[in-house]
Amino acid sequence: MGKDVIIACDFASAEETFKFLDNFTEEKPYVKIGMELYYAEGPAIVKEIKRRGHKIFLDLKLHDIPNTVKKAMSVLRELDVDMTNLHAAGTIAMMEAAREGLTRPDGTRPLLIAVTQLTSTDQERMTKDLLINEPLEKVVMHYAENAKKAGLDGVVCSPLEAETVHVACGGDFLTVTPGVRFADGDMGDQVRVTTPEKAKEIGSDYIVVGRPITQAADPVAAYRRCMAEFVG
Ligand code: C5P
Repeated sequence: MGKDVIIACDFASAEETFKFLDNFTEEKPYVKIGMELYYAEGPAIVKEIKRRGHKIFLDLKLHDIPNTVKKAMSVLRELDVDMTNLHAAGTIAMMEAAREGLTRPDGTRPLLIAVTQLTSTDQERMTKDLLINEPLEKVVMHYAENAKKAGLDGVVCSPLEAETVHVACGGDFLTVTPGVRFADGDMGDQVRVTTPEKAKEIGSDYIVVGRPITQAADPVAAYRRCMAEFVG
């Protein structure tokens, strides 16, 4: 499975996004388009980034009744992205419906990845707000196993969980991991962080890197450093 660095293009407009992407004249990085950019610019931004030759992870984290998610996924599949995602909390039935909706008539489909518990949800909030009384790590692994049962390709998780997910769900079950920082870099608001090198060692398949590249004085150099440390 090819390891890759995915740049989180957390920009508010197409203009800012293309200004950033125009820095890359030699390589075509894999990019993540999240809710902010997608809701601001719509499907056109996806099509234009695709036209420029980038691979795309469309990070919209769907979560609704199975039939609605299935129909939404069958619309998204026409955008020809490489990876998209949903919330495992929507249940196995919802994840199966999503996979069916995303599958094209010829049997191909983008990679489908599940969010287990958001990293903004800690043990206390999960127990008090969601009334889930199990330890957080157990819930994350259970949701990963549900995603596997539903025929999904992997999960978004912390690089620190990548190894355990691979043990529970198999080596070919993908781990897509944010929370990456250079050893000498600024942590921003991320708490549990890992360097690209360490993420590689633990077995992440894709690292999602935002600010260490997008806010760097030289984004291309930062991207190349990430690729060198993670992919080698
Ligand atoms: O700028 P930074 O490298 O922290 O960006 C990480 C990206 O990964 C952001 O787009 C953020 O929303 C996303 N993400 C995350 N933690 C998760 C899931 C997604 O940081 N658990």
